[in-house]
Amino acid sequence: MSRILTGVQSTGRPHLGNILGAIIPAIELANKRQNDSFLFIADLHSLTQVKDSKELKENTLQVAATWLACGLNKETTTFYRQSDVPQCAELAWYLNCHFPYQRLKLAHSFKDKADRLEDVNSGLFSYPMLMAADILLYDAEYVPVGKDQLQHLEMTKDVASRMNHKYGEIFTLPESILQKNTQLIPGTDGQKMSKSRNNTIDIFDTEKNIKKNINRNIITDNSPLEKPKDPNNATVFKLFKLLASEKKSKAMEDNLIAGGYGWGHAKKELFEEIIQKYGPQREKFNHFLNNPNEVEEVLHQGAIKAKKVANATLSRVRKNLGYN
Ligand code: ADP
Ligand code: TRP
Repeated sequence: MSRILTGVQSTGRPHLGNILGAIIPAIELANKRQNDSFLFIADLHSLTQVKDSKELKENTLQVAATWLACGLNKETTTFYRQSDVPQCAELAWYLNCHFPYQRLKLAHSFKDKADRLEDVNSGLFSYPMLMAADILLYDAEYVPVGKDQLQHLEMTKDVASRMNHKYGEIFTLPESILQKNTQLIPGTDGQKMSKSRNNTIDIFDTEKNIKKNINRNIITDNSPLEKPKDPNNATVFKLFKLLASEKKSKAMEDNLIAGGYGWGHAKKELFEEIIQKYGPQREKFNHFLNNPNEVEEVLHQGAIKAKKVANATLSRVRKNLGYN
């Protein structure tokens, strides 16, 4: 059995890009029987950006509901909220004290965020050590991440090796798994779908809003209905192809090429595909939002399991550092 671990920040309701690019691939990996999976909501990391307690809580609920609605198996996966296991904050301190400031200064993601954000706090700077603590606390062997997180994994291995070298083998060195599914899901404007670009598709929104979003915001050229159209340059077709069966995609492709089929038709089909394909997920998502206690219970059970592992690691570390 391999221990797989990954975390997701709770910075808002996940969009179609997050779901197809990160959530579903991670769930598929987590649900494999040979894996012992730890999946968590990185709400302590979110504090680097979100300072409103209500928003922080609401985000956690929305993210948890998304994972549960998209098929996370709560029986086999340890699904928890990072802040329920504060042991990671203690371990992060120990790691911080063993990692050179000059190395941390080289983090790309800090530089990127420091250039964009107004609130450039110290938490943002030491973010990679909290992430390393998340990983090392649970003896994770494999960590699925996007490309932007690879450097953080290198730092995790680096700090773990430094401490293993100094104190003996206290940490398991993790390997990253680069999410193969790094296909970029396009947003309504054809660019990478992203919260910060305001081009997202929210599959959990009301039908009316999803339709409005598709009709108003997906950019098309202005060729008239009767003219043949190029499917490969059309965001609406690219999105449809990601969701629909091969047969349906081929039919839309043929229709666009043949002419006599307008963008409005394609958008209508895309809307219907989203509603049909994600019907069960939408229902479950709403169920969880309306029953937050059920989500709490799942996270509570997850935290109990996570804490057992966390306490064992932490006492090993404390002992080696002289804090027992
Ligand atoms: P956003 O860009 O909306 O802020 P995040 O950076 O929080 O999204 O991404 C969370 C996860 O979702 C990451 O693993 C990221 O790789 C994945 N992801 C985000 N947008 C896309 C996209 N358009 N296509 C594929 N994966 C994506
Ligand atoms: N930093 C990751 C991100 O922004 C989230 C995260 C926090 C994480 N702790 C982690 C991912 C531990 C993997 C393992 O996507």
